[in-house]
Amino acid sequence: MTYVVTDNCIACKYTDCVEVCPVDCFYEGENALVIHPDECIDCGVCEPECPADAIRPDTEPDMEQWVEFNRKYSELWPVIYTKKEPLPEAEERDGEKDKLGKYFSEAPGEGG
Ligand code: SF4
Ligand code: F3S
Repeated sequence: MTYVVTDNCIACKYTDCVEVCPVDCFYEGENALVIHPDECIDCGVCEPECPADAIRPDTEPDMEQWVEFNRKYSELWPVIYTKKEPLPEAEERDGEKDKLGKYFSEAPGEGG
């Protein structure tokens, strides 16, 4: 199994998750992060760290699309291992529905 980042990370990007990952398998887009499913060791320590509750195990229902989403962008974006400021609109956007359709950017983040 793996953990994956899901919809509510988009337009928030709190980044608390990256500091606890023992294998540095988070990758940064302009306004979201993803986890590389083949690098994640399923330790689960990142899940409770996310203020937006965006990190889920792939054992939950309907996670296939998010596993593929995480795989695709983790191969395009740079690795991130240092916590940064959340996006300015994070608090306002936290919990909105369909953030993938409304806000997602395919552009890479800065990483690091
Ligand atoms: Fe990293 Fe563990 Fe989270 Fe996987 S479950 S992304 S290994 S902290
Ligand atoms: Fe995103 Fe949550 Fe990490 S909002 S950046 S998965 S702490």
